[in-house]
Amino acid sequence: MTHYNGKTVLVTGGAGFIGSHLVDALIKKKYNVRVFDNLVNGKIENLNRHKDNTQFQFISGNVTDPFDVANAMEGIDIVFHLACLGVRHSITHPFENHRVNAEGSLLMLDAAYRSKVKRFLYCSSSEVYGTAEYVPMPESHPTCPCTVYGAGKLAGEAYARAYHKTYGLPVVIIRPFNTFGPRSHYEGDAGEMIPKSIVRALNHQPIIIFGNGSQTRDFTYVEDTARGLVAAVECDKMIGQTLNIGSNFEISIKDLANKLSVMVGITDSKVVLTPQRPGDVLRLFADTSRFFKLTGWRPQVKFEDGLVKTIEFFRNHPLGIGELMSSETGRNWRKIIR
Ligand SMILES: NC(=O)c1ccc[n+]([C@@H]2O[C@H](COP(=O)([O-])OP(=O)(O)OC[C@H]3O[C@@H](n4cnc5c(N)ncnc54)[C@H](O)[C@@H]3O)[C@@H](O)[C@H]2O)c1
Repeated sequence: MTHYNGKTVLVTGGAGFIGSHLVDALIKKKYNVRVFDNLVNGKIENLNRHKDNTQFQFISGNVTDPFDVANAMEGIDIVFHLACLGVRHSITHPFENHRVNAEGSLLMLDAAYRSKVKRFLYCSSSEVYGTAEYVPMPESHPTCPCTVYGAGKLAGEAYARAYHKTYGLPVVIIRPFNTFGPRSHYEGDAGEMIPKSIVRALNHQPIIIFGNGSQTRDFTYVEDTARGLVAAVECDKMIGQTLNIGSNFEISIKDLANKLSVMVGITDSKVVLTPQRPGDVLRLFADTSRFFKLTGWRPQVKFEDGLVKTIEFFRNHPLGIGELMSSETGRNWRKIIR
């Protein structure tokens, strides 16, 4: 176990949902943190609490621009690479999605290698697996992504492993399963099931399910995911490894929608079924035993407690729940007209 307190860390995508919680965790552990984000989906408000902290720095830039990347990498000891475009974005913009998620990762790896960083954490995704062939899913489960997003994330993984094997870059690859919590996206094509449903129910709108709701997911509370990413970088045995982070439990989207409808406490909120999204993964359930064994990490926040915290976050959102609804688009994917 290595403690890097006082070292300078680069977090790409640090203004985003998971990235901003990772920044909170790193600042708490006395790292110096530089966020590198183009704010396409991230929000500077997510980082407001750190703006006057001398441990913190924000650089606006694009992970696909070699000049921006070289500038961001200067003086960096550790990289957490989270910047990416999302799964539903990839349905309508496959090439742009690939450029950021795969090519952007390659550029980050190359710059990190040239800068001789001590660790490079590549944040992958459970989407690289596609639908589970068996559960729970260990890291040896076949990778057969359903979307360009999943394929691009897998390409990024492959580049990270290649930079480790060919150039000795000390990479760590983490595959988080679905993550939820405060600051999660409710808006546009970035909008996720839990925050969208909460925003809709609080506005007396029906909770929408795409498909019949039998799809399953393994959800982790965001502060636990962020803690897991830090634990992964601090664990020397993680170098060269590809490991899952998840909660090791499975819930169907239908059960989740019904649970949220009750927990939000709006009696007239209904659950409606709508057409399935193309490329939707039907089953995900993590085997996290290898990560637990190597790092000792365990999720600390129970699913229901995390949902309560998330509901409270949106109920008390500074924009007001009605204003949030104006950017909640209902269907968070578009039909492919190509
Ligand atoms: N949210 C989940 O459930 C989940 C699950 C598994 C894996 N992940 C992974 O976690 C990471 C973070 O995801 P998130 O949910 O916080 O998403 P997010 O969209 O909130 O964060 C991504 C960040 O990247 C930034 N970004 C996008 N394109 C960029 C570019 N070209 N240059 C610089 N910055 C750019 C965005 O502005 C945003 O702040 C991603 O790598 C994602 O694949 C997320």
